[in-house]
Amino acid sequence: MSDDKPADKLWGGRFNEPTDAFVEDFTASVGFDRRLYRQDIAGSIAHATMLARAGVLSEDDAKSIVTGLEAIRDDIEAGRFDWSVGLEDVHMNVEARLTERVGDVGKRLHTGRSRNDQVATDIRLWLRDEIDITCATLRRLMAGLVGLAEREAETIMPGFTHLQVAQPVTFGHHVLAWFEMLKRDHGRLLDCRKRVNVMPLGAAALAGTSYPIDRTVTAELLGFDDVAENSLDAVSDRDFAIEYCATASLVMMHLSRIAEELVLWSSAQFDFITLPDRFCTGSSIMPQKKNPDVPELVRGKSGRVYGHLVSLLTLMKSQPLAYNKDNQEDKEPLFDTVDTVKDSLRAFADMLPELGINAERMRAAARQGFATATDLADYLVRQGMPFRDAHEVVGKAVRLGVESGRDLADMTLEELQRFSPTISADVFDVLSLEGSVAARDHLGGTAPAQVRAATQRAHAWLDAQQEE
Ligand code: ARG
Repeated sequence: MSDDKPADKLWGGRFNEPTDAFVEDFTASVGFDRRLYRQDIAGSIAHATMLARAGVLSEDDAKSIVTGLEAIRDDIEAGRFDWSVGLEDVHMNVEARLTERVGDVGKRLHTGRSRNDQVATDIRLWLRDEIDITCATLRRLMAGLVGLAEREAETIMPGFTHLQVAQPVTFGHHVLAWFEMLKRDHGRLLDCRKRVNVMPLGAAALAGTSYPIDRTVTAELLGFDDVAENSLDAVSDRDFAIEYCATASLVMMHLSRIAEELVLWSSAQFDFITLPDRFCTGSSIMPQKKNPDVPELVRGKSGRVYGHLVSLLTLMKSQPLAYNKDNQEDKEPLFDTVDTVKDSLRAFADMLPELGINAERMRAAARQGFATATDLADYLVRQGMPFRDAHEVVGKAVRLGVESGRDLADMTLEELQRFSPTISADVFDVLSLEGSVAARDHLGGTAPAQVRAATQRAHAWLDAQQEE
């Protein structure tokens, strides 16, 4: 054997020459996976504790290992840890340091374990915590939306289809539509968490281990709900990361839709809302500008999250069982997805409760575009006219409005009676914006009373999540 064998490598035994310097950099993941140090150490502590209970490690050895690992965690947190690219990843950095600290007993930690089950365990522990943090921020955003909906339960704006004025709605109702989108996301995150919180540890490299391990002990110490059933699947499965990115893509898609409306509504052309100054920036050339940068960025960031979903799907496509080094590529897309979603949710949670509402402009816009035309048709139907005929009659009235530049509510009773003689003065209640929204007074409708009832249900939902 040559003396050139890589001295610092934990796997150096069978090698005759040191790793090529470029290859060392190329294959290392410590630059990004050091982020998993806390989970890596927690996993090792649980593993050593279990090995001692199973009689594979002596109690004393396990104690030294646990104390050493805790000290390493303190060192990392205090910035006293020298990360080495030569040691490739977080797992071998921590393990090598352990042996430096506690001596040869540190070399016993990796008994009955592989980096393959170790890394899968670390990512799952990490993602589980991040899902909990993400859900909390999501709920903070949702609580802000409920507050906004309560305040603006009676504020009338035009509802749109095809981005054309359709029917009047209340602003509170629109905000609660956002709430519903996010509520589904919350459910998907919790559902994803169930499959994240399954423990691969014990699968070792791929086939399990010959030591008498008790995986239920490790799982309980680490707070896992379940143990992965099959060792090959345990080390190769990254479905949970893909699921998270798919869920995150839906979150970002929803945020991009909200963002788009904020951008449109804060424009001079709509002027429905004002974004707080501290969430906007100016232009270096146009002194008058106040740009909606935060919603625009959130809208733009949806792209990278969709990209990460496709990256992970492509990463896993056609991979033979069990672990392959390809899987090291799972971390950066996953980390960036988690960061992007958390930051975007936070930006909206901070900003949305402080939206300025320009109720007068919303109202004026709702008065344009014949938003109460359906209400007139419904009025005629209540007088006995078939809906299709009523649609035709109102269409003619709208044409007069277009030609004379007036809304239906601005016409005289005589003019309206020309379209249907049964119309009487009470028609103007129906043609008013308040009358129109108040009439939609059923579960899921836009009436202020329904919006208030919906905010009560939303509060109850939020309270129920806290309790869980
Ligand atoms: N750094 C590796 C990863 O992120 C850890 C597992 C490596 N396992 C191996 N047999 N090379 O996937």
